[in-house]
Amino acid sequence: MSAFLHQRPLHNPLSDPHPLSPPSSNPRKPFSSFSPITLLVLLGLLIILGVFLPWTSMQEGLFSITNRSSLKWRSYTLAQAAAFVAQNGTLIVCAVSEPYLPFLNNWLISIARQKHQDKVLVIAEDYGTLYKVNERWPGHAVLIPPALDAQAAHKFGSQGFFNFTSRRPRHLLNILELGYSVMYNDVDMVWLADPFPYLVGNHDVYFTDDMTPVKPLNHSHDLPPPGKKGRTYICSCMIFLRPTSGAKLIMKKWIEEMQQEPWSRAKKANDQPAFNWALDKNAAQADLYLLSQAAFPTGGLYFKNKTWVKETNGMHVIIHNNYILGFEKKIRRFHDYGLWLVDDHAHESPLGRI
Ligand SMILES: *[C@@H]1O[C@H](CO)[C@@H](O)[C@H](O)[C@H]1NC(C)=O
Ligand SMILES: *[C@@H]1O[C@H](CO)[C@@H](O)[C@H](O)[C@H]1NC(C)=O
Ligand SMILES: *[C@@H]1O[C@H](CO)[C@@H](O)[C@H](O)[C@H]1NC(C)=O
Ligand SMILES: *[C@@H]1O[C@H](CO)[C@@H](O)[C@H](O)[C@H]1NC(C)=O
Ligand SMILES: *[C@@H]1O[C@H](CO)[C@@H](O)[C@H](O)[C@H]1NC(C)=O
Repeated sequence: MSAFLHQRPLHNPLSDPHPLSPPSSNPRKPFSSFSPITLLVLLGLLIILGVFLPWTSMQEGLFSITNRSSLKWRSYTLAQAAAFVAQNGTLIVCAVSEPYLPFLNNWLISIARQKHQDKVLVIAEDYGTLYKVNERWPGHAVLIPPALDAQAAHKFGSQGFFNFTSRRPRHLLNILELGYSVMYNDVDMVWLADPFPYLVGNHDVYFTDDMTPVKPLNHSHDLPPPGKKGRTYICSCMIFLRPTSGAKLIMKKWIEEMQQEPWSRAKKANDQPAFNWALDKNAAQADLYLLSQAAFPTGGLYFKNKTWVKETNGMHVIIHNNYILGFEKKIRRFHDYGLWLVDDHAHESPLGRI
């Protein structure tokens, strides 16, 4: 595990001499250098090619264009991607492997409804995801090598899943080192409202509680007291960080905690306990802020206590589809609660239908 965490200098943004400069070919304006006349000539050429070339070689031509654009995204670095996507020094980030693309799209639709999609950067964990996202939405996905085996990575509790989630604090630390504020979300989430007004004050790390007991609406914003396992149950699913030394410290300690407690068959760990140890042990060195339960409820509360949901009607901001295992079950539950948006609203996603 520790070897894995150290093994990532291929695209170290810190060694990039121009970390904040935009990518050399700005993917947002791919045609800006073509005059209307050039375009007309190109169009004519395409028609001629379509008429005179045999269909098969036409197909080959199309595929090689696709592949050439794929090549471009292979070497897109985190520093370039962040500079291209960030707005007002802020990024919204998720990490996705191919099996999760439908969830990514669902999450994106909900973010587009709050008009925050432009600052979303997808950290692709495999090349399929990198190419698919960038083909439809140029510049919004980046892959930080090495790529993971997509099939191994999506079973909760497996070593593949641990490997996948253990890269999270490293990615977040890199983004902070580049000077951006960052909101991380798991993609099994749906935004019902804009979360940014809830990130009040100038704290280092903002997070949500994964415990299900109902708290008073005016609960404290301090780190809660430790639970049965001697630590808190803060969710590593939604975190907002400012590029401060306090936030960087928490990410570094999270990485250290993960290295000290590698995955084992017996424990089937995920990255959340390590995040909690990092918070609990370093609470004095960082300015921490617990977000409101009514606005950011755990799935263990939102999907299980109808009375509470009714009582807090209109206060919910981000819903997390956790406290349930399995791909199909998650989709069914979102569906049952009117939160599965991809079937009827794919046109609202910057990726369209996937
Ligand atoms: C080129 O792209 C096509 C379609 O996406 C794919 O089937 C093929 O394997 C790619 N070829 C290479 C050499 O990557
Ligand atoms: C940009 O960020 C500053 C500081 O965080 C904030 O006060 C301001 O409202 C933001 N502006 C926009 C347009 O989001
Ligand atoms: C997870 O990472 C470890 C350490 O790098 C590696 O030995 C193992 O093969 C990986 N397992 C999976 C399923 O990706
Ligand atoms: C919350 O409100 C109750 C009743 O109004 C009050 O007694 C309590 O001190 C408040 N708690 C906090 C943390 O402000
Ligand atoms: C469900 O919510 C109600 C209303 O907030 C609360 O009184 C009750 O204790 C909750 N039930 C459970 C099982 O947590």
